[in-house]
Amino acid sequence: MRVLSTVASALVALAFVGCAGGTHPSGGAAGQPLAGAALYDPAHLPAGKMGALVREGYDIITQTHKFAKPFVVSQMECSSCHIAGGTVPRGGYLRIAGHFPQWNKRSHRAIALQDRIAECFLYSMNGRPPAYDSRTMIAVVAYINWISRGQKTFSPIDPKVRIARFKPPAPPNVSRGATIYTAQCSMCHQANGAGIPGQFPALWGATSFNKGAGMAKVAMMAGFVRYNMPLGKAGTLSDQQAYDVAAFVESHKRPAFDKKASIAFPPEPASFF
Ligand code: HEC
Ligand code: HEC
Repeated sequence: MRVLSTVASALVALAFVGCAGGTHPSGGAAGQPLAGAALYDPAHLPAGKMGALVREGYDIITQTHKFAKPFVVSQMECSSCHIAGGTVPRGGYLRIAGHFPQWNKRSHRAIALQDRIAECFLYSMNGRPPAYDSRTMIAVVAYINWISRGQKTFSPIDPKVRIARFKPPAPPNVSRGATIYTAQCSMCHQANGAGIPGQFPALWGATSFNKGAGMAKVAMMAGFVRYNMPLGKAGTLSDQQAYDVAAFVESHKRPAFDKKASIAFPPEPASFF
């Protein structure tokens, strides 16, 4: 009984911490960072307008077509790759606010969180980024900051929570991958890879992410698939099977990325500030 009631009061205390209104709770039990679904609980958000902003960011990430339509071309949501709004380790984790600004190898410069979000709009959503001072961008940043609460800035990135990186045991084989795809993926993502809009995201073709996306690399897709797919049976494929099926998916056509396309962030009138 004694133990049980201690556990119960610890739980009450935890719930209380999570509900701390406008303040930002710093973590879970014994100062440990919160994990998984506890990172985003709509019943425990900051009070007032900040809570509404965080919720808006969550809605944009999970229903990107509905809430950020002008910026999206591909038939996917941010959460197609950032599983459960980016709260799942190994599934496109988004608890990363403390790691920005960071050095970006691709663009050879230090980037802010907004720049990284803009990249996913450009490549993964095959769209265009919202202006950095737009409500859409600020809401997404607010959400990512909220689920990153308690994280230390300039802390090293924990490779264990990000999309897994590993080498293929043997060179990936496209025809073995085709067999896996037909048996374990096509019922949801469809034989033509186009998925079903609103239910299953496209893996290749005109409505998928473009060639500039991280997911377009066989190694990145293998790392994602190994720990997240087939949905409902995550973790059942071997490293080799994950590579084979990723190689099969990537053997198909997808949209090119237009490096020359210019991105304009519309200037706002001074009255905006
Ligand atoms: C096609 C899959 C895909 C989609 C869709 C997608 N992303 Fe990503 N995103 C990735 C991958 C892959 C990474 C790199 C993750 C890694 O390195 O572990 C990434 C990384 C990120 C990062 C940096 C995370 C880190 O670990 O450094 C942010 C922030 C981000 N995405 C935001 C978004 C937002 C916002 C959207 C929607 C507008 C979006 N992404 C849509 C695949 C995707
Ligand atoms: C039961 C249905 C289902 C099965 C089976 C399934 N997926 Fe998925 N897949 C999804 C859903 C739904 C998502 C989006 C994530 C979410 O909403 O949680 C997704 C996301 C993905 C993504 C990231 C988004 C994108 O469009 O690129 C990849 C890659 C992927 N699946 C590959 C596979 C592969 C490879 C297999 C077979 C080994 C597979 N999936 C089996 C339902 C499924």
